[in-house]
Amino acid sequence: MSTMKRRRFLSHLWQAGAALVALAGAWTSWDLLRPGEAKGFGGKIRTVPPAAIPENGVIEIAAARAYLVNIGGEVVALSQKCTHLGCRVPWCESSSAFECPCHGSVFNRAGEYRAGPAPRGMDRHPIEVGTDGLIYIDTGSTEDGPPPGPETIDEPVTGPNCAQGAE
Ligand code: FES
Repeated sequence: MSTMKRRRFLSHLWQAGAALVALAGAWTSWDLLRPGEAKGFGGKIRTVPPAAIPENGVIEIAAARAYLVNIGGEVVALSQKCTHLGCRVPWCESSSAFECPCHGSVFNRAGEYRAGPAPRGMDRHPIEVGTDGLIYIDTGSTEDGPPPGPETIDEPVTGPNCAQGAE
């Protein structure tokens, strides 16, 4: 192989190598930056079919840090984060209410304010039913809970409270 041919061959080889490196870089950048559904908290969390939530039932979805609640046939996703100072608010089966263990705020099954220092009801996440028939909770989006006021559901306290200070 003459010197000229060898130089031309090496030049083409370098160009091909540089093109491959540029292509790999572009692919990696696109793969990192492309919009996609987040699968963990902060994105859309796949949960259960609507039929899995009985009428007036409460289901905890730990991955979404939320509850799915069926209120008279309408399913809503309530954030577990207390609207007072952010403690996790558990569901109390005996009183049929959400009771915050930190400072005693209480919310009814619909997440509406009932008592305590919380400034409003429990916040909500938008939900949608996917093509797979399952409910997706959008934990990347939060709607403020309703302000204190008359409760829209008629559910009196059914038994003892779970949280100290809750009434
Ligand atoms: S954090 Fe829930 S009542 Fe204070």
